[in-house]
Amino acid sequence: MSVLSPDAEGAPYDSRAAAYDRVVGSALYNRLLWGASPERYRAFARRAVAAGNRPLLDAGAGSAVFTAGAYAEADRPLLLVDRSLGMLEAARNRIADRAGGTLPNSVTLLQADANDLPLRDESIETVLSMGMLHLFDDVTGHVEELGRVLAPGGRLFAMSLVAAQRLGRVYLWLLHRAGEVAAPRGFDGIRAAVESGFGAAVDGAREGCMAFFTAKVEDAE
Ligand SMILES: C[S@@+](CC[C@H](N)C(=O)[O-])C[C@H]1O[C@@H](n2cnc3c(N)ncnc32)[C@H](O)[C@@H]1O
Repeated sequence: MSVLSPDAEGAPYDSRAAAYDRVVGSALYNRLLWGASPERYRAFARRAVAAGNRPLLDAGAGSAVFTAGAYAEADRPLLLVDRSLGMLEAARNRIADRAGGTLPNSVTLLQADANDLPLRDESIETVLSMGMLHLFDDVTGHVEELGRVLAPGGRLFAMSLVAAQRLGRVYLWLLHRAGEVAAPRGFDGIRAAVESGFGAAVDGAREGCMAFFTAKVEDAE
């Protein structure tokens, strides 16, 4: 499904879904370049899926290269949003494969802008954001939009590249020059922007150039 017009931006990733999976999904690429491990990304996604039983939004779901296993087994509604139909098609195929050949009814794939979500306020229990924050100049505004849809007691799980190690920092700057990512920021800079958008303190951890943030919206009175 889509809420974007047919000529909407999103194409950059459409032509790249297969290459994206081979490169970004590779343990060697992540270890050498980012000093981090896909196993940890998958575990992070599993924590998000296990954090509730009401709707989970994956904002910028991509091809589900790290999430398909968790999504195939999940027992809760899952809304996968991405601007790229090519990435969503790859996600659909990967999750269906993991689930034995058919996409589970619990999974909805939606082409939409993660900065302008077609969702009601407080309609989501868990937001998962993997590999997204470093794409945006305005991380605070992006996280504000994610926070808008989170219900009281809901949780945010966000994983982002940060400029933390020499090789990763250099590569992030090259990606920035190529127009692929925002100007690289360090762990503290991204964390401050997340806290500003979320309106509360977030827990943070880092493995190499990958930062992991979690936060909980206050429970309703
Ligand atoms: C670096 S990939 C991350 C994908 C996936 N979360 C992962 O961890 O592999 C970024 C994804 O965000 C999508 N994207 C970029 N900007 C977006 C936006 N404003 N709204 C929705 N999706 C967006 C791209 O199409 C791409 O699939």
